[in-house]
Amino acid sequence: MDITNPPINNYLYRVTPPRDGILQEMEALAKKHNFPIIGPLVGRFLFQMATITKAQKIFELGSGYGYSAYWFASAMGKKGKIICTDGDEKNKILAESFFKRAKISNKITFKVGNALEILAATKGTFDIILNDVDKHQYPEVFDLVIPKLKKGGVFITDNLLWSSKVLDPHPDASTLGILKFTHKIYSSKKVFSTILPIRDGISVSVKL
Ligand SMILES: C[S@@+](CC[C@H](N)C(=O)[O-])C[C@H]1O[C@@H](n2cnc3c(N)ncnc32)[C@H](O)[C@@H]1O
Repeated sequence: MDITNPPINNYLYRVTPPRDGILQEMEALAKKHNFPIIGPLVGRFLFQMATITKAQKIFELGSGYGYSAYWFASAMGKKGKIICTDGDEKNKILAESFFKRAKISNKITFKVGNALEILAATKGTFDIILNDVDKHQYPEVFDLVIPKLKKGGVFITDNLLWSSKVLDPHPDASTLGILKFTHKIYSSKKVFSTILPIRDGISVSVKL
């Protein structure tokens, strides 16, 4: 089942302004290898969030080859710092080549390993945390992220509607992870959350 009426979805992509050359290359690569980047609709939203919050410190769990981080970095001033994480060394190499060409390498540190363990071992708090790791890990990510977010900080998570599999009467492990996570973001008194049905659904939680 489509999340957005297909003609409306096509319309949204059609009216979205063109991206710079590097983002277009990253998008073409995702299409070629069927790699799940957040895409331009959510990318623009990340840019807005970094701008509105004047974010200086961002942490990403599951950075792939840097498409989402590229949008954040584009919105951050010279002092902006992003920690990217991914389990795959090849993604780091690819991401760093894009960041170098875009002259944004000074804003980004890319760490390879388990994103949850890296976040747990990282000191300090963040203005924005983006979660895009494997979906069965989402409930654990919630518990880990909240203490690492500053008060008023924003926690953004991708794939909350999961191609409509959240409606499945017999959810698999990934879908169950998303359902449990959804319950957590709405029942926790520590955050105030909304799910936005753009692309595959994103949640936005503000730490109270
Ligand atoms: C959906 S992709 C990320 C896309 C990226 N946020 C973007 O929009 O450009 C998910 C990535 O998370 C990585 N990943 C999944 N679980 C992880 C974990 N526990 N630790 C580190 N990386 C993980 C995968 O290797 C994959 O590259």
